[in-house]
Amino acid sequence: MFRLSRIGLALVLLGAVGFASLPQTAAAADDAANVIKYRKQVMVANASHITAIFSVLKGETSYAGHIAAHARAIADGAAMMPDIFPEGSGSGDTGALPSIWQDWPKFQAAAKALQTAAADLAAAASSGDIAAVGAAAGAVGKACGGCHEPFRKKK
Ligand code: HEC
Repeated sequence: MFRLSRIGLALVLLGAVGFASLPQTAAAADDAANVIKYRKQVMVANASHITAIFSVLKGETSYAGHIAAHARAIADGAAMMPDIFPEGSGSGDTGALPSIWQDWPKFQAAAKALQTAAADLAAAASSGDIAAVGAAAGAVGKACGGCHEPFRKKK
């Protein structure tokens, strides 16, 4: 029993070391086209989570207990945003505008605003106050638009 857990611990530590030696932001060294594909997936994931939340709020489904987890996933995605727009990833098959890198602090603030709005939504959902959930979900939607407006090409 003791030996087994020692081996388990060693494996866990090995795993931790393996991860720790990975660079925190690999993106700088990654191919720009792959970074663009990757960040679109992060955006699409966010869109899926907010769509799932609105499915509940519109009464199409009754998965109210899932809202907080969807909101936390959006907050996590928002936290990735500064990483997934590295300098040099502004050309190619992308809707990203040069304004992102010209006004980086404002872009970071827009990502932070989404992170905060999504965390507020998660908190509202956990409290079970449905009116607060509706308002907080609206604020999340606004935070998406608050970044797309200045930083994403119009369709
Ligand atoms: C901090 C800025 C920022 C925030 C916040 C943000 N986005 Fe985006 N989003 C972008 C940019 C810039 C692009 C264009 C990316 C590209 O084409 O390289 C984009 C692209 C997208 C796309 C298109 C992806 C594709 O396949 O081309 C979707 C969908 C999307 N965002 C949804 C969302 C949703 C939903 C939210 C809120 C929950 C959100 N975004 C929040 C900046 C943001």
